[in-house]
Amino acid sequence: MIEDTKDRPPATGERDPAAGGGGKRVNLPTWDDVWVGPLGHLAEERERLGAMEWAHFSVTPLAATVGAELDGIDLTAELSDDAIAEVRAALHAYKVIFFRDQPLTPEQHTAFAKRFGELEIHPFIPSNTGVPELVRFSKNAEIGGYENGWHHDVTWREVPSMGAILHAIDVPATGGDTLFADMYAAYDGLSPEVKERIDGLTAEHDFMRTFGGSLDDEQKAEMRKKYPLAHHPVVIRHHATGKKLLYVNRFFTNRIVELDDAESHELLGHLCDQAHTLEYQCRFRWEKDSVAFWDNRAVQHYASSDYWPDVRVMERASIIGIRPAA
Ligand code: SIN
Repeated sequence: MIEDTKDRPPATGERDPAAGGGGKRVNLPTWDDVWVGPLGHLAEERERLGAMEWAHFSVTPLAATVGAELDGIDLTAELSDDAIAEVRAALHAYKVIFFRDQPLTPEQHTAFAKRFGELEIHPFIPSNTGVPELVRFSKNAEIGGYENGWHHDVTWREVPSMGAILHAIDVPATGGDTLFADMYAAYDGLSPEVKERIDGLTAEHDFMRTFGGSLDDEQKAEMRKKYPLAHHPVVIRHHATGKKLLYVNRFFTNRIVELDDAESHELLGHLCDQAHTLEYQCRFRWEKDSVAFWDNRAVQHYASSDYWPDVRVMERASIIGIRPAA
């Protein structure tokens, strides 16, 4: 496409991919922010993942660096410590892992989740009435899906969840996919100038941006007392992998505290837009009893809201993490 310049001005601007080879990326004439060309920095991680071996399941990757389907493991059973350790390792490697045909009861769902840590009770989303740790996303003709924006879950908490396990109870005939974006790849792909600019910056996160809309003034005041504005580094280091990742999202991040409003808005926009890079994403097509387990620091997710007025019912258990740090 970009070779065909005879009727157009030539492509302008050139830069190396942030890391790795594969040639130059170039931006399209008249569109300063539209770049084409290889994202060479993904190669190393893709190769690393391809060389990993697994004893308790087989692995089919969904995309270059993010997402894999795990087959041959039964989440309804009580798994050995070895199997759980390997699931955790796969989660850290692939950032989000998927399982098919797992008819989990609510008790089996929470029992599996508890193998990875204490479970969170969400103060704003209704739960499965029998099991308070299971958030229930129940969509139908009366209530459509509002989770169609890129986000990490609950970054408005001082200690956001480390991961979440989502079980499909009822799925629409078409649509309702969930997409995941790799925030390590997003960080690694930033230009050296932007990396330098965001080093040491802090972001303010706020539940009010989304959940505030359904609260009256009294409830807002009460919830603000319980959940003050949370501050996390813009770039955090994953506590298990030690690698740096981008940790801001449009749902919950208000601003970058060290910058004035205009600069914060411009920089946050650029950082949040990284999740839109298709090469950093995978997309999961749900079936009844599919399960997704995502690393809530390593990925942002986006639930496609294209199925209204169809029914989509999902249940999520979230595992409490540790405070994010640079
Ligand atoms: C969520 O945003 O946690 C829900 C994801 C989904 O329903 O696919």
